[in-house]
Amino acid sequence: MSNSEQVKHTIETRPTKPFTDQKPGTSGLRKPTKTFIENQYFENFIQAYFDDLNETNKDKQATLVVGGDGRHFVREGTRIIIQMAAANNVKKLFVARDGLMSTPSVSCVIRKRNTDGGIVLTASHNPGGIDNDFGVKFNISNGGPAPEAVTNSVYDKTRQLTNIRLCPTLVNIDLLTLGKHTYEIEGRSTPFEIEIIDSVDDYVQLMKSIFDFDKIHNLLVGDKGKFPIMINALSGVMGPYVLRIFHEELKAKDAVTVKNCKNLEDFGGHHPDPNLTYAHELVEDMKHGDFEFGAAFDGDGDRNMILGKSGFFVTPCDSLAVLAANLDCIPYFKKHGVHGYARSMPTSGAVDRVAAKNQKSLYEVPTGWKFFGNLMDSKLISICGEESFGTGSDHIREKDGMWAVLSWLSVLANVDRSVEKILHAHWTTFGRNFFTRYDYEEIDGPGPFAMLKRLEGMCMANELLNKTFVTPYGNKEYTVTLMDDFHYTDPVDGSYTEKQGIRIVFTDGSRLVFRLSGTGARGATVRLYADSYENDPSTYTKDAQEMLRPLVSLALEIAQLKDFTGRDKPTVIT
Ligand code: G6P
Ligand code: ZN
Repeated sequence: MSNSEQVKHTIETRPTKPFTDQKPGTSGLRKPTKTFIENQYFENFIQAYFDDLNETNKDKQATLVVGGDGRHFVREGTRIIIQMAAANNVKKLFVARDGLMSTPSVSCVIRKRNTDGGIVLTASHNPGGIDNDFGVKFNISNGGPAPEAVTNSVYDKTRQLTNIRLCPTLVNIDLLTLGKHTYEIEGRSTPFEIEIIDSVDDYVQLMKSIFDFDKIHNLLVGDKGKFPIMINALSGVMGPYVLRIFHEELKAKDAVTVKNCKNLEDFGGHHPDPNLTYAHELVEDMKHGDFEFGAAFDGDGDRNMILGKSGFFVTPCDSLAVLAANLDCIPYFKKHGVHGYARSMPTSGAVDRVAAKNQKSLYEVPTGWKFFGNLMDSKLISICGEESFGTGSDHIREKDGMWAVLSWLSVLANVDRSVEKILHAHWTTFGRNFFTRYDYEEIDGPGPFAMLKRLEGMCMANELLNKTFVTPYGNKEYTVTLMDDFHYTDPVDGSYTEKQGIRIVFTDGSRLVFRLSGTGARGATVRLYADSYENDPSTYTKDAQEMLRPLVSLALEIAQLKDFTGRDKPTVIT
């Protein structure tokens, strides 16, 4: 459908008061939904972004993509962005049908349609609904999350904002029907264009250019018999992508059982974070042993959790390492070759061992997908991942849950039909990094900040260097070989990022990391990460929690975590 109106829409300038707390975190600005809805909070943030965009683009008219994960306020937010884009000199907006577009899909569409960037309305894995969280994330023209130079500049503008601009008469736009529209705006020399697109189409085309769909079809329903799998979309944005790819494109309806594929504004009450705690429904479904493989996605579809038969858990750190070791199962990498690998600092060193064996470079970056963008643009890396259930490659500039699942199915189709056997073979070759993360979520008060401050002080004074500890649990000895506050200089543009987590490394290579989460919307969340390497095959089948208990007990003691936070146990363990 194409439509061009003759009426001229006028631009209204509305006074506003600046907010002081619109600083984006690890991945965009996240706040309670009500905060965004009240007092033009959302409009202010969007205006600051447009001001920044126009300043950087020197008033060259931008083309942008807008999409979201379907949570409460995504559709209203999309309509507000349309009104504000028209008034802020945006040339064209590609708008997701019904406002729905996964984060990886936004990245795909930005790249495919060569736009100047995009706006993603999501709080990712945070719960949605009027009483939960909403979020806004800006992506740049490479398809990736905006780097800190951009988000800091937007933040500066939010603190000085005096008015917002919008075209209030741009209403009743049909977001459900695909098509192009143009509008005349008073004071603009060019019309404002909108195109409503189906992002699933663009995304599916990309996946088909990366993977061998026939081979995956054969794995699922081919001559070796059915390979039953279970996919749970946790009522997030991924439902339409899952149904289209597994049922229509791969023609594997018989083998692929899906759950929660209807997108709901409150995610059906799910906490849409694919881990053993919040995706417990998938864990229960897998325990019966009826499915060979299981996967779940987060609200906006960039995170994934991979399970094998009977609920065998693949840690995201191992998932990255296994995929890195088996990229030759994926046609995209055969065609484009494999550059280096990268992981975030708290992610275990499992992928480092694959890099060493394959003689590839390994980059260690701070937490946050935005730090991978330059490395991919400069062809320094092809694949990267994080312990926080994110895995991806240079096919786009976001982590990609569906890509991870199709990658795993490619490995299963080529190497072995058992997830567990693939992991055991991997550990036999490389040894095993045991990894765990303890989260202490939503702590009120200054305790977590004081705890980190004390640890920073210990780093500066080099207090723990060469000190030997006996663990409170298990009586194991550990000697500190390095303690620092992680900082990073981007090898491509030289940008410097500091205070990215306290790291304690021991002489046997084991590591402890302490950070405050940058994605929460309430209180402070402390994350404690423990990573320890074993190459004695008799340990490979052991439980990670049991193996790491001594190291974790030492972490709690060194940080005096209970005293500072008042918590004697974590809210989530992954
Ligand atoms: C988001 C980001 C990731 C990051 C994760 C955890 O998913 O895209 O890059 O690892 O959040 O961040 P946090 O600051 O909460 O540990
Ligand atoms: Zn996400």
